[in-house]
Amino acid sequence: MEQLDRDEALKALAWQIELGADEAILDTPVDRYALKPEAPPAPRPAPAGPSAPAAQEPSPEATEAFDLDPVAVARKLASEAQDLAALQAALAAYPHCELRNGAKNLVFSDGQPGARVMIIGEAPGRDEDTAGKPFVGRAGQLLDRMLQAIGLNRAHADPEHAAYITNIIPCRPPQNRDPKPAEIAMMMPFVERHVALAEPQAIVLMGNIACQGVLGRRGITRMRGTWDEAFGKPVLPMFHPAYLLRNPSAKRHAWEDLLSLKARL
Ligand code: URA
Repeated sequence: MEQLDRDEALKALAWQIELGADEAILDTPVDRYALKPEAPPAPRPAPAGPSAPAAQEPSPEATEAFDLDPVAVARKLASEAQDLAALQAALAAYPHCELRNGAKNLVFSDGQPGARVMIIGEAPGRDEDTAGKPFVGRAGQLLDRMLQAIGLNRAHADPEHAAYITNIIPCRPPQNRDPKPAEIAMMMPFVERHVALAEPQAIVLMGNIACQGVLGRRGITRMRGTWDEAFGKPVLPMFHPAYLLRNPSAKRHAWEDLLSLKARL
């Protein structure tokens, strides 16, 4: 297409405005879901010769776009963490989660890394935010009793009898509101890396938010008790202990699920 210079472009624009074209839309709608994604621009050939760089530096625009993509940044930071301490530090340094601004503490984990069972909950509440540990309030105390019922204890030194506990979201949401989908999405690379580094044999997903993050769907009443797979591990959705506190009659289902977990181990 012929290139316009600045003056010509401004004249063409003024002419279009005069004709009444004041919005950049077509007469017929475009179904953008049906469009094929644009092919990425072909890379420019590297200059020949011994001093040619091995790889091209990303452009400032590409770097800026990357820095603005919270999930891409989370993926990079998480993948660089070689142990749990490094992962915790990466989470603490992660700049895109605004929940951090309203929270007292980053709540990373509790229990024994390397335990056979890893529990993934939702997000810290007030007690957890204060203590800097997951599941220490009333729901956490019920969780401890549930684990104890099948011979597990988060404080046990032996990984056979221990449990390792974390949440999808490491910072308390204001007024304990549900985490937003974007907040869940940006934490998932950290959760995935957390699982890889903690190496559990089985994972328990406590409630809908954990199911949403890990399995991409909700519906805990239907999902609970049915084993699934994520991160290459067996995962068991269960009712959240906070739900069990509000609905004691559901405890019998939680008991069935605990027995299923015990049998699996
Ligand atoms: N509920 C959760 O899901 N996690 C906690 O840490 C506390 C309550």
